[in-house]
Formats: sequence, C-alpha cells, structure tokens
Amino acid sequence: MILPVLQYPDPRLTLKAQAVSEITPKIRTLAADMAETMYARDGVGLAAPQVGESLRLVVMDMTGPDERSDLRVLINPLIVLSGEEVEAEEGCLSVCDYSAKVARREFARVEALDLDGHHQVFDAQGRMAVCVQHECDHLDGVLFIDRLSRLKRGMLDRRLQKKKI
Ligand code: NI
Repeated sequence: MILPVLQYPDPRLTLKAQAVSEITPKIRTLAADMAETMYARDGVGLAAPQVGESLRLVVMDMTGPDERSDLRVLINPLIVLSGEEVEAEEGCLSVCDYSAKVARREFARVEALDLDGHHQVFDAQGRMAVCVQHECDHLDGVLFIDRLSRLKRGMLDRRLQKKKI
C-alpha cells in the first residue's frame, strides 16, 4: 500500500524516533509499504517518521524504482562515519520540489537488524553513504534542510511561505 508522506514543516518530522523493540507482522507490513511508497515516488530512501511512524526503521534501494534489485531494510541502524566531508546534492520526499548541496562524511559503516532479526553490517560510500546519513538523520528528527546555511534555509522558508499565501 502506498502511504502518504508527511511534508515539511510537519512537526512529526522533528521527533526523535523510538527503537523497534520487536519485529512483528505490523513492522514487516510497514517496511513493505514504505518500500512501495519509496519506489512509487522515485526515491532511493525513506524513513518511518516520514510516513508518520516514529520508529527507527529505514528502507533504501540505490538501484532505484526501475531496477529494484538492492532493497535494504534497516532496523535500529547505527552508523559510524569516516573520511572527509564532501558536498552532494540532496532532495527529500518530505521537502517537495527542492534540492540543495549538503556536506556529509565520505564513508559510513552501517550496523542494523534486517527483517529476520539478523545483524547486518555494510560499508557505504558515495551516494549510498549520503543516503544512509540522510535517512538516519530522519530518525533523529533532522531534515537535510536543517544542515543548510542560515541564508539558504531562510530563502527556502520564505519561498514556502509565499506558496502558502
Ligand atoms: Ni528525506
């Protein structure tokens, strides 16, 4: 089922999400619905808080909606960052029609549970490292636009204000 994606400035996007305590059928259904939603919206990552579930659960697939060959479900992910800071263009399904360059660390080692409760560890770099950091930020109530300079953020907020009027 395709789920509605909360849009900035919805206050639910700013909450720190709770750990998943047990992988229940409800969690499996949520993960499947999140993957379907991500693919339908041409995204490469989606975090549970974006669909109104304050849980530490992320889906991602860097191969995109056409290939769909590398779906990863991350439950209670932890990331260890390394390398230089590099700037890359980011967008977000919760911030429509906007993208901007954000500085992120080059490498991320990801530890998480999968849907079978198995421990998974993998190393991400390039676009995948950006995606992992972006999605894990969502679990702490942080959006990529929170990482912009005050000047850029101010321009975005004024633009959104105008849209509302
Ligand atoms: Ni996002």
